[in-house]
Amino acid sequence: MQALASRTDPDWVRGALAHLDEVLVDHAHCEKKAASTAVSLLFKYPERDDLLAPLARLAREELLHFEQVLAQLARRGVRFRHLMPSPYAGRLRQIVRAGEPGCLVDTLLCMALIEARSCERLGLLASVIEEPELAEMYRGLVASEARHHETYLALAARVASAPEVGARLGEVATHEAAVLAAVPSMPRLHA
Ligand SMILES: [Fe+2]
Ligand SMILES: [Fe+2]
Repeated sequence: MQALASRTDPDWVRGALAHLDEVLVDHAHCEKKAASTAVSLLFKYPERDDLLAPLARLAREELLHFEQVLAQLARRGVRFRHLMPSPYAGRLRQIVRAGEPGCLVDTLLCMALIEARSCERLGLLASVIEEPELAEMYRGLVASEARHHETYLALAARVASAPEVGARLGEVATHEAAVLAAVPSMPRLHA
């Protein structure tokens, strides 16, 4: 993923494989949260009619992903349950500026980076997992999350100028890499 300022350590893949059920439960939460964030933007920015339909589509797709991960959990006999989330997303969003339009631009760029990181990591899992059902799901999600990354970048470019978005994307990506390097190691998609 071109936008990312760092590459995932191979140790993360080894850790995820060793705790795959827990990573899958966390992944389901991440898909649900991704849908919820897109919906929350619909509530926060009802006047941005250039963002509404793409965000609604994103939210629907993320809920479909949530259902796909739930189906894999059920197939493996793993119950969906509450999990302590990685502090990654909360820390990432500390870079979001308070005033508008900076707040909206930064939120969209944070989402673009989360999508990029998910895409990278799901791709790593797809390349090593032998279970055909899971590998197939991961491959499908890699394509979707790459598209979502592009969608969030395109939406940011509707809010601010291309040079502004490009410069800010670099700053948010640097911050994202630092946040990811600092979060405690745990079996999570973003840890
Ligand atoms: Fe997703
Ligand atoms: Fe996504």
